[in-house]
Amino acid sequence: MKVLKLNSEEIKMLNGKYGNAVKKSMEIITALGDIFGADELVDVSSVQVAGVSYANLGEAGLEFLNEMAKDGKTKVLTTLNPAGMDLENWKDLGIDSEFAENQKRVIEAFEKMDIISTCTCTPYFIGNIPHFGEHVAWSESSAVCYANSVLGVRTNREGGPSALAAALTGKTAGYGLHLEENRQAELTVNVNAEIFETYRFGALGKAIGDKAGGKIAYIRGVSKASVEELKSLCASIATYGGTAMFHMESITPESRFTKIPRDSITINESDINNIIRELTDDSEVDFVSIGCPHCSIKEIAKIASLLKGRKVKKELWITTARPIKGIADKIGYSDIIESSGAKFACDTCCVVAPIKGRFRTLCTDSAKGCYYARGKNKFKTKLKSIEECIEVALS
Ligand code: F3S
Repeated sequence: MKVLKLNSEEIKMLNGKYGNAVKKSMEIITALGDIFGADELVDVSSVQVAGVSYANLGEAGLEFLNEMAKDGKTKVLTTLNPAGMDLENWKDLGIDSEFAENQKRVIEAFEKMDIISTCTCTPYFIGNIPHFGEHVAWSESSAVCYANSVLGVRTNREGGPSALAAALTGKTAGYGLHLEENRQAELTVNVNAEIFETYRFGALGKAIGDKAGGKIAYIRGVSKASVEELKSLCASIATYGGTAMFHMESITPESRFTKIPRDSITINESDINNIIRELTDDSEVDFVSIGCPHCSIKEIAKIASLLKGRKVKKELWITTARPIKGIADKIGYSDIIESSGAKFACDTCCVVAPIKGRFRTLCTDSAKGCYYARGKNKFKTKLKSIEECIEVALS
């Protein structure tokens, strides 16, 4: 059995020399290290903290944050996952003022610890972008999968408290995907289908998740993939397969270094079409949302070009990080989008916002969005391309 060894600085942290928040953080990190058989801690260069929505945290979670905020300060760049509401425009999105007050208390606690209160599941679009080989401690499942697979960054999927502990110490326990030997592919996935656009990449993620379970896939047969398509795949593969990493031949950086597993499965065109059908109910859409994971500026440009000079007839949310919305404001995309009647929902998304009961059927380009809309919000869903989603919103 491995024994977790701490250096002298880490021992001082654990013994309380640097205050209560650091001590508590080290207790969390070393407990995880003991459970998962780490033999050392590793330094992290960035953190992304989940568990930001007051709907999930409640008073008990907020009490923990306030306790840590008494003397805790971040040691490394730290950003937040989406909150339960747009922190500025919450009224327009139908959030009640009691929830808004509580959500603001959560954000204040994070800010007291010097955490950057940009709430997004795509931290890599807003400057929280580590380089190949760095160790980080990220929480959000799609971002974790993107970090490991697309950026070649090393992270386990942290829970909210363990990510916060990493932020306040700059450390995490060295187990799981921090170790080279655990990053090897375990199953070859031959893709015998045309995969293009975010919704079909999302469908591919579900197909792999359903068939490969928790194994790290070595995906062959996809000739090109944009950043937006990869983020959709990451979200879906993590949601449906619980996997925090994959390799894609000639596309992801570590695909060159991994062994190629003999065990294989094949995903055919019919598998992709069946999944799109499975996630598409026969019901009237009353809510359209694009941006799961949060939209890039390129996606916003595309949405603006589709909405220019037109008016939506259904509630349409574009979910993105506030700094990305800032760029869209400057270029003029926001004016075009908002003139159509569509709404930006920054800092939040259609899954974490408390909107259960407000809508019946969600139309989205996100396979992950469909999963949570059905499970958490009890909505019916339709999985379509971004163009089709916009047409639905306009009809
Ligand atoms: Fe992001 Fe919300 Fe989707 S956190 S990945 S937009 S469910």
